[in-house]
Amino acid sequence: MAHILVLGASNGIGLETVKAALAAGHRVRAFARSAAEIPLSDPDPERFTGDALKGGDVTAALDGIDVVVQALGVPFKSLFGPVHLFSDATNLLVPAMEKAGVRRLIAVTGFGTGDSRAAVGLLQRLPFQLVFGRAYDDKDAQEMRIRKSGLDWTFVRPGVLTGGANTGRYQVLEQPSSWRNGRIARADVADFIVRDIASKAYIRKAVVLVN
Ligand SMILES: NC(=O)c1ccc[n+]([C@@H]2O[C@H](COP(=O)([O-])OP(=O)(O)OC[C@H]3O[C@@H](n4cnc5c(N)ncnc54)[C@H](OP(=O)(O)O)[C@@H]3O)[C@@H](O)[C@H]2O)c1
Repeated sequence: MAHILVLGASNGIGLETVKAALAAGHRVRAFARSAAEIPLSDPDPERFTGDALKGGDVTAALDGIDVVVQALGVPFKSLFGPVHLFSDATNLLVPAMEKAGVRRLIAVTGFGTGDSRAAVGLLQRLPFQLVFGRAYDDKDAQEMRIRKSGLDWTFVRPGVLTGGANTGRYQVLEQPSSWRNGRIARADVADFIVRDIASKAYIRKAVVLVN
């Protein structure tokens, strides 16, 4: 069993990952600015109230950790201004992990990041750029920084996220020729992440996840 640090653990994919990892028997450190409000009690994660943009918080949170899951997100309204969270947090995280000797990083980015941008359909390209362009440019910088590291990384690139329970029925698209958009439940993304922690099947690979 691993000791997992989840960055962005108070909501969305991060929170689902905390739940799935605890259910699988892992030890979980749940990191967010609002960690105290995480609605879990039995089992309870280790709560770490911290800011991913503060180097001291990140360094302290890495103590004793085997695997980091980076699941940070910005509110929808923030997509229409400059977005730096993903690259700034990663520029702190990667050297901190290297210094602490923590090698495994699973980073949630999204379909349309990096070399999957070319797989966005022609009709979706303009709306995608208008709404998500700034965030995905920053996610490109996030992935590039991680690729330059010596870490054992995996990029998890989900399609359009939905709520609801884990279905276990989703596709892990590894080949660029198979990449396409689609919907996927946050709980299924978490299911993939927790399985990948055990299997280590996708080290130094980027996968697109859709139903
Ligand atoms: N929406 C989609 O359809 C879609 C599709 C593909 C990929 N994605 C990506 O998937 C990821 C997860 O999205 P989501 O909707 O599941 O999650 P989310 O609801 O956006 O949750 C974001 C998490 O990040 C934390 N966070 C933000 N800034 C932080 C900071 N400075 N320090 C520490 N924690 C911070 C938040 O906690 P606090 O506020 O408590 O700190 C929260 O736990 C995002 O990167 C998103 O872009 C989304």
